[in-house]
Amino acid sequence: MKPIEYERMFSAEERHWWYQGMAVITRGILDRHLPPGQNREILDAGCGTGGAMASFLQDYGRVSGFDFSIKGLEFCKARELTGVFAASVTEIPLKRERFDLVTSFDVLYHVQDDRQAMGEMARVLKPGGALLVRVPAYEWMRRQHDIQVGAVRRYTRQKVEALFDSCDFEVVRLTCANTFLFPLAVANVLLEKISPPKPEASELAASTGAFNHLFKAILSSEARLAARFLLPYGLSIFALGRKKADRS
Ligand SMILES: C[S@@+](CC[C@H](N)C(=O)[O-])C[C@H]1O[C@@H](n2cnc3c(N)ncnc32)[C@H](O)[C@@H]1O
Repeated sequence: MKPIEYERMFSAEERHWWYQGMAVITRGILDRHLPPGQNREILDAGCGTGGAMASFLQDYGRVSGFDFSIKGLEFCKARELTGVFAASVTEIPLKRERFDLVTSFDVLYHVQDDRQAMGEMARVLKPGGALLVRVPAYEWMRRQHDIQVGAVRRYTRQKVEALFDSCDFEVVRLTCANTFLFPLAVANVLLEKISPPKPEASELAASTGAFNHLFKAILSSEARLAARFLLPYGLSIFALGRKKADRS
């Protein structure tokens, strides 16, 4: 990702409807399966500018995080986050079986060898520990933003499930999200095909103005559903897995 993308991400995280709504959905899933207030060790793999660490992960335990971008880590420092370090998710420089929860939000789709990354996250989890992953859905929804952030692939639910299975996780929650606004996103992709945006234009930089509140409310309203039921389609996929206890 180009340095400008980290700046955009940092300034969008506290106000943009997508980040705000996704935080509500993520909290909903965590609250249902891993309620706050317990003494957990948490690792945010690919923490970017530290938005999730600063805004909600701290409610669920003691959080550390890493990213391979020095630019991202500078923003984590600006947020005064501790326990943040530079590393790749395909080679986590930590001992095995340290964490109760590993989270990784929109990181795997950047990584060439996503299975190796999953294996590394499994390695640092305690037996029975939880892995919460969010990835973007559907190759056919690839758009300019994917190119800007250097996306390698997008996923389907089946692909994510197979990835969890192959790394010895029991999947306890698998759902799409950003479902209610999905028709608008499809229209947007079609529009991009007819009239491609300028290469320097950014979805995050673009102010959604008066729609910011509305979109945030619509996205957030999925939280209770995503925590309990399968939303069969949507622009993102959430998967929560438990590391099988007998994994060697
Ligand atoms: C779309 S951003 C998401 C950041 C953050 N997880 C969030 O939800 O805001 C993707 C992040 O993955 C990081 N990343 C990509 N490949 C990585 C790798 N192999 N190891 C660690 N971080 C990686 C990028 O530097 C970037 O910060």
